[in-house]
Amino acid sequence: MELLGLLLLPCFLGLLTTVASERPHLLQRASFLHLDGGTEVPKVPRAVPIPGSQTWPSDESSDRCTARNAYTCGDGQRCCCMFGCSYDLEKDNCTACDAADPLVRQFHIPSSHLWKERAEGICSAEFAHRCGAACCCNANFRWNMETRHCEAAEDLAMVIETLPAPPVPPEDVVPGSQTWTAAGISCESRNAYSCSDGQHCCCRFGCVFNPEKDSCSACSADSPQVKSFHIPSSHLWAERIKEGTCEPEHSHACGKACCCHGKYRWDLEQRHCVAAASTVATAEGASVAEKKLVAPPKPDPVPGSQTWLTGGTCEAKNAYKCGDHCCCMFGCEFNAERDSCTSCSDNDPLVAKFHIPASHLWNARREKQLCDEPESHRCGQACCCNAGYLWNMESRRCIIYK
Ligand SMILES: *[C@@H]1O[C@H](CO)[C@@H](O)[C@H](O)[C@H]1NC(C)=O
Repeated sequence: MELLGLLLLPCFLGLLTTVASERPHLLQRASFLHLDGGTEVPKVPRAVPIPGSQTWPSDESSDRCTARNAYTCGDGQRCCCMFGCSYDLEKDNCTACDAADPLVRQFHIPSSHLWKERAEGICSAEFAHRCGAACCCNANFRWNMETRHCEAAEDLAMVIETLPAPPVPPEDVVPGSQTWTAAGISCESRNAYSCSDGQHCCCRFGCVFNPEKDSCSACSADSPQVKSFHIPSSHLWAERIKEGTCEPEHSHACGKACCCHGKYRWDLEQRHCVAAASTVATAEGASVAEKKLVAPPKPDPVPGSQTWLTGGTCEAKNAYKCGDHCCCMFGCEFNAERDSCTSCSDNDPLVAKFHIPASHLWNARREKQLCDEPESHRCGQACCCNAGYLWNMESRRCIIYK
């Protein structure tokens, strides 16, 4: 029997994974495994206390477990679903109670549906609870026909206690977002939260960093990350509904629910966000910073433009200073007849490709037509790093390209 159990385990694990992935919110039924050795008496289910059920609040009208179709089990602080009901993670409640459930059919106390008290909804026998239209002995107990009591059973069905914790998403660190806090802008105001390094902001689950807005945006409640990694039943939390906030440490609002920050997972038992052992690689995580660098254009000084500098500026001719000459601003072309850079276009491919993301929003650019970052110049409606330089998103500087 022991050997059989070991041999069957991988198959059951496979089955469990399927069940869990198809119906991730229903766990209880999958946790009972019956290894009924042929004609033997079926093994009594082992008590599987609902993780975290010790946190369920007490209710004046009924017992705290009974309020959720459960009964007291385990250490006496936790609850187990009544036979025939399933624990629904998203409701944090035992639901879908079914009188025709195999557990009820197999383990109800014979003739208990005829008990007078049962008609009033009560199963007062010690170690018993309501199940279907009858009463059942609690998990770990078996009805003794002779003594007519629920007695502790020795031979319990096997249970797979916990499925391994799946990896969680990494932090989606916004490169250069340390400049937000330095400028007095909160992570939250840009759909982000403070990353674990205490410096950067990380996009909330379901939101994506948009460099042109310099903000996390396009937040979606249907994003796979929110769907897979929100805290079960957190959409029912009073503070989430009333104030839009998420109380647990290391958590943030995501979709209609709360999510643990990147690198954290929800511990159902402790009901906290705890540091996770491993993280998954996600497409959303591979952000701007990891994009391959594109070589910037090489400086192309206007021949003879050193003369522009005597008594004038490069800017007066739609150019910027490069070395001791002037170079045309991106999007403009040198016109020899006018001895100036002209026909500047906002939609020039160079501008489109090399403007500094979100620089069209900079105050100096908008109010004073000025690009005051070192090694940058006006281009289209934005600013561009000078030829030979590339914008570094993290340091938010134009850095010489090598
Ligand atoms: C649990 O679900 C039952 C219905 O299955 C409902 O009557 C009960 O109010 C729920 N309890 C809580 C605390 O949500």
